[in-house]
Amino acid sequence: MQENDQRTARNPLHNDNPLKIGVFCQNLSGGACITLAEGTLSGDWSEQLEVARAADAAGWEFLIPIGRWRGYGGASDHHGRSLEVFTWAAGVAASTKQIHVFATAHVPIFHPLLAAKQGATIDQISNGRFGINVVAGWNAPELAMFGISQLPHDERYVAAEEWVTIVKRLWTEEANLDFQGKYYSMESGELRPKPISQPYPTLISAGQSTVGIEFAAKHMDFTFQAHADLEELRSLVVRARELAHREHHRKLGVLTYSMVVCRDTEKEAQDYVRYYVDEQGDWVAAQNVIDGFVAGDTRSLPREVLEGMQRSMVAGWGGVPLVGTAEQIVDKLQDLHRIGVDGVAMTWVNYGEGIAQFNEEILPLMEEAGLRSPRPAT
Ligand SMILES: Cc1cc2nc3c(=O)[nH]c(=O)nc-3n(C[C@H](O)[C@H](O)[C@H](O)COP(=O)(O)O)c2cc1C
Repeated sequence: MQENDQRTARNPLHNDNPLKIGVFCQNLSGGACITLAEGTLSGDWSEQLEVARAADAAGWEFLIPIGRWRGYGGASDHHGRSLEVFTWAAGVAASTKQIHVFATAHVPIFHPLLAAKQGATIDQISNGRFGINVVAGWNAPELAMFGISQLPHDERYVAAEEWVTIVKRLWTEEANLDFQGKYYSMESGELRPKPISQPYPTLISAGQSTVGIEFAAKHMDFTFQAHADLEELRSLVVRARELAHREHHRKLGVLTYSMVVCRDTEKEAQDYVRYYVDEQGDWVAAQNVIDGFVAGDTRSLPREVLEGMQRSMVAGWGGVPLVGTAEQIVDKLQDLHRIGVDGVAMTWVNYGEGIAQFNEEILPLMEEAGLRSPRPAT
């Protein structure tokens, strides 16, 4: 985040709540659970506004979709239906009042002028509640759909540095932009109107590699980190923050994501996890996700290690699980806050029911615990 950051008034990501809350992965079929269980998202528009407005009305801070171009197969055809993120964000921004809305830009696919122009437009539509998750490149089969070959891993971030430099300059400089780089060139690049957010809309990225974290530390407002293990997550958070502070004299926010299963008793919650993961999990699609995530052949890993990875993917795309009673979930949210997380993007098997229950049973306990300010009476 910049010293001259003036986004506080409009952008809830800069409000005073110690732990921000958001919705993750709502724009595609299955969300972040790789399961055939009843009640998962369809990936159609029809259910989007209900989810977004339920979070918006209760004062949640942010919505993060996934930029996805093809599904992961398996019996569930996980993520086989997905809404394009910039158009999704424009629709959601126009239909909500205070919540911050992200889109996702794949650097190799979106020219920086296009991303900057779309971003400035949605920032206007939302009155300064917009941001971009910058993906340097990841799923080769998705890029192949555009006829693009992926750059070698670390070079992707060199191209992304040029990309983000251009986007920020187009957003902030009055004069037209001439740019001559290795990956992009621009002659008299013009962008008006500018975004409402000053100095510019929120930027986040989610890479966990050394260069991915360095990129976030240098250029982003938030890093979006995930690990099912709290201690591993803590070391990612500390590493990213320290790097931003030490090398770039910047403040870096940290977001993470979690899968929520809240029931009256811990046993009921664990029974439900057994149902949607062990009985109804789509392990074929989970392995396809892992193949895209992890370099090398994971099938040669010891069986219990591979099954652990698959289970964590099926359960919630590898995020920190929030499973148990409302009180137990708030304890875990306290732990996330304690290790330095600023905001948690959450997922459920059934988003509609999950958010309603969260608002009713968990939010009041978060307020009591000091994780959030009491909501104004409506
Ligand atoms: C929380 C999170 C969200 C992500 N969102 C997307 C996304 O929407 N679309 C996408 O193609 N990649 C997404 N990624 C992939 C990352 O942007 C990144 O490319 C990947 O983690 C590999 O980066 P690395 O090699 O630097 O670790 C996401 C990753 C994480 C951990």
